Amino acid sequence: MFDLIVKNATLTDGQTGADIACKDGKIEAIEADITADAKDVFDAGGYLVSPPFVDPHFHMDATLSLGTPRMNVSGTLLEGIALWGELKPVQSVEDIVERALRYCNLATAKGIGAIRSHVDTCDDALKGVQALLEVREKVKGYLDLQLVAFPQDGVLRDPTAMENTMRALDLGVDVVGGIPHFERTMVDGAESVRLLCEIAAERGLMVDMHCDESDDPMSRHIETLAFETQRLGLQGRVTGSHLTSMHSMDNYYVSKLIPLMVEAGVHAIPNPLINIMLQGRHDSYPKRRGQTRVRELRDAGITVGFGSDCMMDPWYSLGKADMLDVAFMGLHVGQLSSRADMEWCFDAVTENSARIMGLEDYGVRKGCNANFVVLQATDKIEAIRLRAHRIAVAHAGRIVSRSTPVTHEITASGGALKLNEADMAVGHS
Ligand code: FE2
Repeated sequence: MFDLIVKNATLTDGQTGADIACKDGKIEAIEADITADAKDVFDAGGYLVSPPFVDPHFHMDATLSLGTPRMNVSGTLLEGIALWGELKPVQSVEDIVERALRYCNLATAKGIGAIRSHVDTCDDALKGVQALLEVREKVKGYLDLQLVAFPQDGVLRDPTAMENTMRALDLGVDVVGGIPHFERTMVDGAESVRLLCEIAAERGLMVDMHCDESDDPMSRHIETLAFETQRLGLQGRVTGSHLTSMHSMDNYYVSKLIPLMVEAGVHAIPNPLINIMLQGRHDSYPKRRGQTRVRELRDAGITVGFGSDCMMDPWYSLGKADMLDVAFMGLHVGQLSSRADMEWCFDAVTENSARIMGLEDYGVRKGCNANFVVLQATDKIEAIRLRAHRIAVAHAGRIVSRSTPVTHEITASGGALKLNEADMAVGHS
């Protein structure tokens, strides 16, 4: 007796008519016409069954706080940081838990199975840390939440940030974060990278730094991050998030930098929605896009995953926990328009991000965790094009969210025409 069988799935490798049998949280078989009994049977109707979306960069302590205590008028990163500084003292642990749980429900409905969330450690009361550790425990039956100790105001610039970051790690926060471009000087930024990487090495942890989220081509902390990764033997465990200054860097310097990143096995996480919104704000025309060099990093062999970063918070007023929106934006800003490039953009919000987070047994394959999303689309490109409707989401072999396919009854031309949203381009009725 299986726990769950999903019938008639199309897989991301193009295989059709697949039945997926799950037991004890794992995928036990993927074959045509599995007839064994199961406690729950779900008909995928020929639609795409993908591994769940993975969001490798988010701020769950700030999400859904839009307008509290006021809006970000300039729209800049720096006003967002100042506004977050106004919100921190007036929010409670309970406020953060309530907002984070609401977000986790929405993320689950949108097919996100794992999130890496930064949590601000520049708070002597560590309210965000307390809240998100509680949330990590509460959601573990349907969502894998990985937390990064993030000294938002600078681990050297803020007088108690280092001590509080260490306390957060002692409490069980998973990953070491940082923000070198926000330290007072370039020298302090480099020193913060060294100190934080040493902490990660001593504790056997991963590193994920907000790195060079700036239009300043001289913001080169990624170079130091790659150097420290190699010096301390942290290859494969370190990520540079944002890396927007690389957009503005001199091409000759980048021709040296990317091989250094490859040698160090550093991963990259651009955040397309937020980077296109916040960068280039000091430009007149032409305005820089501010997304890092995604194609060049990928082609050099660096693992690149797209993150969402923000939703309805001091930095970004929009968002709906939709990693297909993120892939869609990354695709456009990076001009990743060939068939292979568009398929890769789907991987950037699934497989690549899972690899960066170190998720084990990820994928729709025999022996993997029985985590997946059923999308109202038939391939990866169609999923991005439509930002496809999520018909069902499974976690550990249990359906945790379900919906019905979206159809429209078109009455415009007199008769009623049933139109399935996934069929719009091919003219099916
Ligand atoms: Fe961020």
